[in-house]
Amino acid sequence: MALSLFNSKTSKAIISRAQDDHATKMRLKYKPYYHAMESQQGTKIKLQGREMVMLSSNDYLGLSFHPKVIEACAQGARTWGSSTTGARISNGSRAYHTKLEERLAAFLGREACHVSVAGYVSCVSAVATFAQKGDTIFADKNIHSCLWDGVRLSTATVERFSHNNPADLRQILQSLEPKTAKMIVVEGVYSMEGHICRLPEIARTSEESGSFLVVDDAHGFGVLGRRGRGTVDHFQLNDQVDIICGSMSKSLASTGGFIAGSRELIEYLRSHSKQTLFSAALAPSQAAAATTSLELMQSEPEHLAKLWKNTKRYREMLKGLGLDTWESETPAVPIVLGSKELVYRFWQALLEKGIFTVMSIAPAVPPGKDLIRTAVSALHSEEDLDKIATAMAYAVKQM
Ligand SMILES: Cc1ncc(COP(=O)(O)O)c(C=O)c1O
Repeated sequence: MALSLFNSKTSKAIISRAQDDHATKMRLKYKPYYHAMESQQGTKIKLQGREMVMLSSNDYLGLSFHPKVIEACAQGARTWGSSTTGARISNGSRAYHTKLEERLAAFLGREACHVSVAGYVSCVSAVATFAQKGDTIFADKNIHSCLWDGVRLSTATVERFSHNNPADLRQILQSLEPKTAKMIVVEGVYSMEGHICRLPEIARTSEESGSFLVVDDAHGFGVLGRRGRGTVDHFQLNDQVDIICGSMSKSLASTGGFIAGSRELIEYLRSHSKQTLFSAALAPSQAAAATTSLELMQSEPEHLAKLWKNTKRYREMLKGLGLDTWESETPAVPIVLGSKELVYRFWQALLEKGIFTVMSIAPAVPPGKDLIRTAVSALHSEEDLDKIATAMAYAVKQM
């Protein structure tokens, strides 16, 4: 018999923790998430044999089913294979990466850009690479999880300011006046709330205090600004924002993420970002889809126009029903119901009427703000919106 280093054999605490986890037990019991759709064609999905309208994707411009994007994706794999199987710094850099980066940089009015395999990765990198121990990060308290991970990885000191409140940011900065390097982290459009960042005031404070300003524009890119250039362009603040990061899994109808800034910042990132140095490069088909979507954003402005037309109709529909949309100003529209029980009932009523949405409950949202997250797409037809209106009226009656 093998000799053991330990006197008694104890069970593995980490396995017990996973087995006893309340959130997982509840998820498996009520099955509100991880629905595996059987098919999709634009906004139409099939779930458990029933056709439904998707009302919570981030395909804002509806390009994920555009024939040119689909063809580019297929052609990308035919030309370059399925994967580079390596990191950009070593064996994974390809001409299609630099082409996409140059085009994104030009579109955003930046000197340079760096793409990676996920928006999450890019946004972690945008914070963690530039901030370091001893620095102070001032973060809007509602920023996305990836930005918080970036903050934690940086090991900088963090100060939170109240959501989209430049006066609070200013007051905290003035009261602390740290002598160390400072970074401000915000989203261009807040993903849950649909709020547009009060960027002019925040950028002014950033300039005056000598802070480095990072804007995650995952939900503003493709939606705001000239031809969808995003929140920074919407406010014409290009010379006051140091880094714009974002995702290619929303308006660009692909997967992956980007970080755009001055050439020296992007080259610094290529030397120091662990997420870049030690992770494989963006796959050919995904880069091709994003490159083609970016071209379409510029050559076919009708998608952006349709997105806003649909958003207007949808918001008026919800307002007419007396629903609380948290003053969303964009196509990301929450329906705030305030408790997980109400959210569950509303979500089920919509599902019953053939509308697929996603629940978001505390702690993913602030307490009392439990909500259904919905998002409009340029692909929604008038018929889809009619069906959504009927379902919303039904769900309201079930409350
Ligand atoms: C604000 C924000 N940043 C970053 C991300 C991450 O993007 P991706 O899903 O492409 O990894 C998301 C995704 O939901 C997001 O909402």
